Order: sequence, then structure tokens, then C-alpha cells
Amino acid sequence: MSPPSFPRRRPWPLLPPSRRSVQSVVDGSRVPYRFCSSSKIALRSALVALDCPGTNVLLPSYLPPGVVEPLHELDVEPRFYRVADDLSADVADAEARLDDETSAIVVVHYFGFPQPRLDEIAALADRHDLALIDNNSHSTLSRRDGRLLGTFGDVGFTSLHKTLPVPDGAVLYFNSSRVDPTERLPLTGVRDRYTCADYRYCAGAAFSATGSVGEAALEFVDHLCNGDDTPYLPPSDDPVGEYQRSKVRMSKLSSTALTRIDPVAVTVNRRAAFARWHHHLAGDDRFAPPFEHLPTGVCPWFYPVVADDPAALVDSLGGVASAFAWPTLPSGVEGNPEYRAENERARRLVLLPAHQDMTPADVDRLAARVR
Ligand SMILES: Cc1ncc(COP(=O)(O)O)c(C=O)c1O
Repeated sequence: MSPPSFPRRRPWPLLPPSRRSVQSVVDGSRVPYRFCSSSKIALRSALVALDCPGTNVLLPSYLPPGVVEPLHELDVEPRFYRVADDLSADVADAEARLDDETSAIVVVHYFGFPQPRLDEIAALADRHDLALIDNNSHSTLSRRDGRLLGTFGDVGFTSLHKTLPVPDGAVLYFNSSRVDPTERLPLTGVRDRYTCADYRYCAGAAFSATGSVGEAALEFVDHLCNGDDTPYLPPSDDPVGEYQRSKVRMSKLSSTALTRIDPVAVTVNRRAAFARWHHHLAGDDRFAPPFEHLPTGVCPWFYPVVADDPAALVDSLGGVASAFAWPTLPSGVEGNPEYRAENERARRLVLLPAHQDMTPADVDRLAARVR
């Protein structure tokens, strides 16, 4: 039997000894923070810390449904404001929807790009004495004017697992006197031991390029962790179940990895992949990229394009790379004619991969399949 072939590349860009780690980037924000298992749990903790239960909160209509789960659970009424085609918040629409019961407004930086209306939303929050919740779920390392996105609100957060090679995690920043950074929030913090999920993630990274050998190795890890009778359950498309399952503290593996991941390598590789996609697709009439420029400080999550035929685009990359239409929308927005543009965009906006482990040559090969 031939020996298994191991991946050419390391599963994540490890840190040269002289460099700052992702952990030191987060510490360098000088904003008090807590770890959580996901942005949904960070948002839940933010709503509790801001005493939002029983009130209403404004949030953008262009969101995956799971993000609204913490509001449903905590008896917070979601009020969705419009989002324009350039993914900027419709500030006038947000203002028209607030009333005396509104306690906070959520602002989202899409795909790692600073929200174009951030300052206007912050001014609106000031005018009406609302808490500002800065949702930078999409990219831990993105900055505006040198300042990390997610640290602009009274409370803010970022998902670690979206743009970094870690199994889970989010950072919840507390940035104002509206919240007590020492408040006891039971779902925040890091687990004190490694779990089966941590071992499985490492095995998946190590064996990702080894085909059936890798699958057999993963089965073996599952067997070690669970015994014969409990099959591994992959993450599901069920937002409620996904949310309930994420009600744990952040993994020890993510916490350890943050001290070893090179933020510069992640940012440089992601920017290069984004720029390469743009080089191939920006002049193609079938695709309209919402972001024409890649500003300094941005670490992109994906390369998004609005496609004439989104299914054909996803199919052309099928089986080779993760590309998918984004997002499914929350109830109250999905199928609601009041949010016609958001529904149309959610059908046509496709996310193309711009991972830190891709090279520009990888993007060239994928782009050739699209043409
Ligand atoms: C804007 C936004 N906020 C929050 C989340 C939830 O992130 P997490 O998976 O870390 O809970 C998502 C997920 O895609 C998102 O798009």
C-alpha cells in the first residue's frame, strides 16, 4: 500500500518568531474584550450586557437568519432597516423605524469592508441615545483608519472562524460606559480543555489533501472520540439548532491558535486572492462586484459578485471550491416585497473563495472554469 501524501501547504500560516500574532492584534486594540464561541453568542451577550430584553433593536435587513436567533430568544423585537446595493445602511430608513422602545442599532461591515455609513449610523445612535452594536463578524483583521472594525460601537464583535483557520470563536469588545466589562456573562470565556471537536478540526486540516485516506483518518478520529455508535454530525443548515449548539464557551484550540497565527500572512494572502478574482471578473459583463476597490486595512472574507446567472457560476466551480449564494434572509425579510432589493441581491450575490491558503495561481485555475 502506498503511503498517504500530505498537503503541500501548512494548514495555516504559522508565525515567524519575530512577528506579532493575531492575539496581539486583538490585545493591541486596547479595548476590553471577552471570547465567545461565535458572533451569535457575542451578539446575545451584548444584548444582555446592554439590557435590551423587552425592547426593540434596529438591524440591517441583509443578514443570515441565525443572527436574529439571539433576539428571538431574549424577547428583543428585530426591526430591519434597508440596505442599498453598495451594502451601505439606509440611515433615513433606520431612523423612520425607531421609537421610544428602541434600545440599540446594529451596524454591519460586509465582507471585511468598513460600512460606508458608519459615521452617520453612529451619529443617529447619539441623537436618539441608542447603543451602537458594531457587527464585524466578517473579518477579524480589517481596520478603518488604523482602528479594528468591531471596536467602533459601545459593544462590538468579530468572528474568528470566518477569516482565520480556527474551529470557532469570536471576540466581544466592550467599548463604553454603557456596559460593565466585568459583568458576569456565562457564555463568554474559553474552555479549559481540548475536546473531540478540537482533535477533529486538526485531523481535518492535516488530511484535507489526502482524499479517501483523509476520510478514513477522520472516521478513525470520530471512532476514538465517540465510540462505534455515535456518528459525527456535520454542521447543519438549521439556524436555530446551529445557534443552540454554539451555546458553549470558545474552544481551547482556537485560543491557542490565535497566539500562533500570522495576521500579516492571512491579510496578504486574502488580499492577493481578492485582487486576482477582481482581475479576472471585473471586466466580465455577467458579474458586478459590489466592491470596486480594496482599501488599505481591509482583510476580505470572500470575493463577492452579483451574477446574472448565480446557479451557473456556483456550478462552474462545483466540487472544486466553496462558492455559494449569500445569504438566506431572516423571516420578516425573506419574500417580503418591502425588501425587494435585498431579496433579489440575496439570490444573485455569490461568494467566491479568497482563503489565506489560496495562491493567485489557485484563483487563476478557478477563474478559468468560470470563463
Ligand atoms: C453579519 C453577520 N453577523 C453574524 C454572523 C454570525 O456569525 P457566527 O457564525 O460567528 O455566529 C454572520 C454569519 O454569517 C453574519 O453574516
